[in-house]
Amino acid sequence: MKFFVDTANLDQIREAQNLGVLDGVTTNPSLMAKEGIKGKEAILKHYVDICNIVDGDVSAEVLSTEYEGMIKEGLELAALHPQIVVKVPATKDGIKAIKYLTEKNIKTNCTLVFSAGQALLAAKAGATYVSPFVGRLDDNATDGIALIEQIVDMFNYYDFETQVLAASIRHTMHIIQCVEAGADVATCPLSAIEGLLRHPLTDIGLAQFVKDSQKMN
Ligand code: G3P
Repeated sequence: MKFFVDTANLDQIREAQNLGVLDGVTTNPSLMAKEGIKGKEAILKHYVDICNIVDGDVSAEVLSTEYEGMIKEGLELAALHPQIVVKVPATKDGIKAIKYLTEKNIKTNCTLVFSAGQALLAAKAGATYVSPFVGRLDDNATDGIALIEQIVDMFNYYDFETQVLAASIRHTMHIIQCVEAGADVATCPLSAIEGLLRHPLTDIGLAQFVKDSQKMN
């Protein structure tokens, strides 16, 4: 399973990249705004900065909600850097835009996916990734991981090439559940990735090894 980090914070992206297991980055308008990125020039520059830190795919979301605007922005974003994946919402205009961009050989990530039906249409339009939002479904008393399982089964059954990118991952256990469900990618906060390493027996064992190693001097 691939690991993406879900942030627009350059320090966190660098830290995740330095860990050596990072496969890409996802951003969204909320994450960009959180970093204080304002204005078209600054937005485009920030995406290039991210691409220059990581080796893998970098999702950059269109701000338009209408087809024409999505196309215009999508072409502009894709021209920025070969690692850019154009992120488009799971709406009627979005599906049409994914179809158009796919035909132009531009990678896409269909975002705000909350149902198998939305994922099916995105896959049929040729999306590179679909992003079901696990945490936001859980927040609404709906099993987010069950949706990942459903979409993985559907894509396997019909041999869709679209990758399941589990998004809105809130904690380490979500990552393990995504592995069990067969997600292709999990995009997570860095803290959730680091949580995979956390185990008290590792800490206790290491402390003992360090203590005993001093007897060997
Ligand atoms: O990038 C989309 C998604 O990961 C957002 O997560 O925590 O805002 O639901 P969250």
